[in-house]
Amino acid sequence: MTVSNIEDLRQQARRKMPRMFFDYLDGGAFSERTLARNTEDFDQWTLEQRVLVDLSKRNLSSEILGCRYSMPVMLAPVGFAGSFWPDGEVEAARAATEAGIPMCLSTFSINSIEEVGAAMPHGLAMQLYVFKDRELASELIQRAWKVGVTTLFLTADTNVSSVRERDTRNGFRTSSSLKFGTLVDLLSHPAWCIRMGLHGRLMLGNVKGKAGVPRSLMAQAAYLSGNVDPSMSWADLEWLRGEWPGKLVVKGVLSVEDASRALDGGADGVCVSNHGGRQLDGARSSISVLPEIAQFIAGRAEVLLDSGIRRGSHIIKAIGLGADAVLLGRAYAYGLGASGRAGVSQAIELLRKETELTLALMGMCSIDELRANRDAVRRCYSESSGSNRLDVERLLDGIGHTPISSISD
Ligand code: FNR
Ligand code: LAC
Repeated sequence: MTVSNIEDLRQQARRKMPRMFFDYLDGGAFSERTLARNTEDFDQWTLEQRVLVDLSKRNLSSEILGCRYSMPVMLAPVGFAGSFWPDGEVEAARAATEAGIPMCLSTFSINSIEEVGAAMPHGLAMQLYVFKDRELASELIQRAWKVGVTTLFLTADTNVSSVRERDTRNGFRTSSSLKFGTLVDLLSHPAWCIRMGLHGRLMLGNVKGKAGVPRSLMAQAAYLSGNVDPSMSWADLEWLRGEWPGKLVVKGVLSVEDASRALDGGADGVCVSNHGGRQLDGARSSISVLPEIAQFIAGRAEVLLDSGIRRGSHIIKAIGLGADAVLLGRAYAYGLGASGRAGVSQAIELLRKETELTLALMGMCSIDELRANRDAVRRCYSESSGSNRLDVERLLDGIGHTPISSISD
């Protein structure tokens, strides 16, 4: 099958992965409305086409949290990625390194932070879930610092885990043993079973062997999901700020008020995110909130965005609306489930090509140029506001043309 876009990779992953893992990857909370809206809402913005521009020298390089990368894109923390493909987190880290982009490792990874750190000497960030046992959080961040992680993402939207009905049906993270139907489904994916069987037992690499942590993946998943500290509050951000000497990003910010509290708590950045529609079903899409948060932050801290990115045009829209960079979640994880490191590389390169081409068709050669021309991303024309007409008049005025209103008078 020819893979032309992220949706094609998703279809491949759907065929190759056991249903329990594909559903976990693909699904969202309750009716999955926010999951759908995350991508649909990008359509509320249009791109300005400009022609006859010299496009011979193009490049997407951009800074993320103080370092230069080949494009303003990072791999998001995706829990249990090592159950989609053997050594999934290490393979994703290798693909990111080859592509010249950074990656953030989930607390709930199968490979440990040390294994991923060894595969990614530059550009590795770590995502933190704070457990009721604070010692475990302190230990994790010390281990992260030791392997060279410079940025910590505190995930703030998961004090309680939402209900993902597909997972409930499959018993994933809700039960500590396999359901009969799930077992049959696993066996009907022999290639996955052989790959994983040859690789050895799946466990959460960052906590395996710890006192009180069960030994099987199913039991660990259920145990740890129930051990994220539901009392985490803004006061704890200050605690974390004191513990962590590197850059700190609060992930899961969806309002100006929370962005403001993150800055007050000493964060170096916020990640505008609704966890890919996996937490509050009914929450606004990330892209619809981005302009107000970016306007509020106004360059005082880094603004990242995730949730819903499936196309290069989505990346362009996010940058145009004020994000410094975006994170890919499912987009790369589908690639991982489809064909391991090669699939992650494929996802990154598909999005790189789409982004570069879209930018070129807008008459631009670089991300810096897009940042200097944010007006090129516009809200769709709306009859009631008439805002585009006013824009046109203002522009024509600016370059000395007769305003349209006087032509028609
Ligand atoms: C996630 N996400 C996530 N976030 C986090 O902070 N820690 C985690 O362990 C996970 N785990 C996880 C697993 C899976 C399977 C998915 C799909 C997502 C959320 C992730 O970092 C990111 O916010 C979303 O994936 C962004 O939405 P899209 O790009 O998937 O639409
Ligand atoms: C998820 C958790 C691990 O979204 O954050 O599945």
